[in-house]
Amino acid sequence: GAAKPVIVAIDGPSGTGKSSTSKAVAAQLGLSYLDTGAQYRAITWWMVTNGIDIEDPTAIAAVAGKPEIISGTDPDNPTINVDGTDVAGPIRTQEVTSKVSAVSAVPEVRTRITELQRSLATSAEYGIVVEGRDIGTTVLPDADLKIFLTASPEARAARRSGELKGADVNATREALIKRDAADSSRKTSPLAKAGDAVEVDTTALTLQQVIECVVTLVEEKRAAK
Ligand code: DC
Repeated sequence: GAAKPVIVAIDGPSGTGKSSTSKAVAAQLGLSYLDTGAQYRAITWWMVTNGIDIEDPTAIAAVAGKPEIISGTDPDNPTINVDGTDVAGPIRTQEVTSKVSAVSAVPEVRTRITELQRSLATSAEYGIVVEGRDIGTTVLPDADLKIFLTASPEARAARRSGELKGADVNATREALIKRDAADSSRKTSPLAKAGDAVEVDTTALTLQQVIECVVTLVEEKRAAK
């Protein structure tokens, strides 16, 4: 009969190859793909654009339900729109990156975005790869497979500066460590490894090796369903 949809949660800090891995695994296996960091960036972009004081969690909470955030889940063409505007570019600016931890720590923001994530995950016909920080622990605790990607701070900073073309490795490393510390220490669903997640240390692995490792794990789960 038809294969049951498979739900894969991929969590970990930034610079571990989470996005590249998740997208490639979804594309190879014919699954949908959701970048939850892009959703938090999108709501942050909306807050900044609408002049909401990022230092004021009450102000953020009051408008958390306002923007309409739509994610396209095709791994070959993932999209992110806010109130009908394509924000794929603007959500990657340094301004949004430096403010996203504060916005995503607000419980009303998390409730709102978590609802969107669950609805996309349950409506994916063949299944979905969802990448983020709290997917295995909070958003999809019943996921078929949970992966937690790690890498040394040096490897993560080097990868991120490579992505940001020409960025200073030391400055990138400091910013990254600061953001991870904020994401890991917030009260509401912090970055954490679920008890039943498979940890993959990517420090000494190529992207291709990480992809192969995760594809194999998903195929094993799918065969066992
Ligand atoms: O994956 P990213 O760097 O684009 O994520 C941006 C920020 O969004 C990250 O610093 C913390 C937040 N985030 C979150 O709180 N929960 C998630 N599931 C995904 C991202």
